Amino acid sequence: MKVLIINGSPHKKNTTWRALDEIRKTLESEGIEAEIYDVPADTAGCLGCNYCSKNGHCVRRDQVNDIAARLDSIDGIIVGTPTYYASPSGSLIAFMDRLFYSAGSKLSKKPAAAVAIARRGGTETSFDVLNKYFTINEMPVISSTYWNNVFGFNPDDAEKDLEGLQTMRNLARNMAWILKAIDAGKKAGIMPPKTEESVYTSFGDGK
Ligand SMILES: Cc1cc2nc3c(=O)[nH]c(=O)nc-3n(C[C@H](O)[C@H](O)[C@H](O)COP(=O)(O)O)c2cc1C
Repeated sequence: MKVLIINGSPHKKNTTWRALDEIRKTLESEGIEAEIYDVPADTAGCLGCNYCSKNGHCVRRDQVNDIAARLDSIDGIIVGTPTYYASPSGSLIAFMDRLFYSAGSKLSKKPAAAVAIARRGGTETSFDVLNKYFTINEMPVISSTYWNNVFGFNPDDAEKDLEGLQTMRNLARNMAWILKAIDAGKKAGIMPPKTEESVYTSFGDGK
């Protein structure tokens, strides 16, 4: 079983990474494979062109398509972000919009969690934005012993946030538990429920 941990910070090994690495180490100690993927800082946003709905991949041929192509082998995701003006980073939002719009079906019914990092404030609103991708896509949201925050301006600050790092470890153990429970359920014949065919009510002709 494998968890993809998405680092939405433009800084490769900084504060957000420090929190996510605590999750990675704990998942591995629970026997779950885990990989941290750094979202490229120059990730461009969704064009809203709907090319992906006809072609199955984003019209921008970049790292979003590379990750989308790997999602069948991913059992759960954790998405971490630095807080920028009380929101996730712009590059992460660009990445998530395009990944979920073009390949969200490959993540449906798989467990997920969001993590937000800040020097001081705005983590809850960032957390809320990220959880919206999961809850429109039938993804069980994994929780912890606090909202999933670590505070710090740099990795040294994060190291001092003992409660934040503990929240990361408890989150990782809960993710490992649910993944193992889903796997055991499948072996016992308990499969994810079938989703109804979608009714698309947009108060117009949808064109
Ligand atoms: C554009 C920008 C906006 C920021 N906005 C906030 C904010 O709203 N609240 C806050 O506490 N910190 C804010 N920060 C600080 C970062 O969230 C904080 O330094 C975080 O540790 C960065 O994570 P990183 O080291 O992984 O990049 C902001 C930083 C930048 C660059």
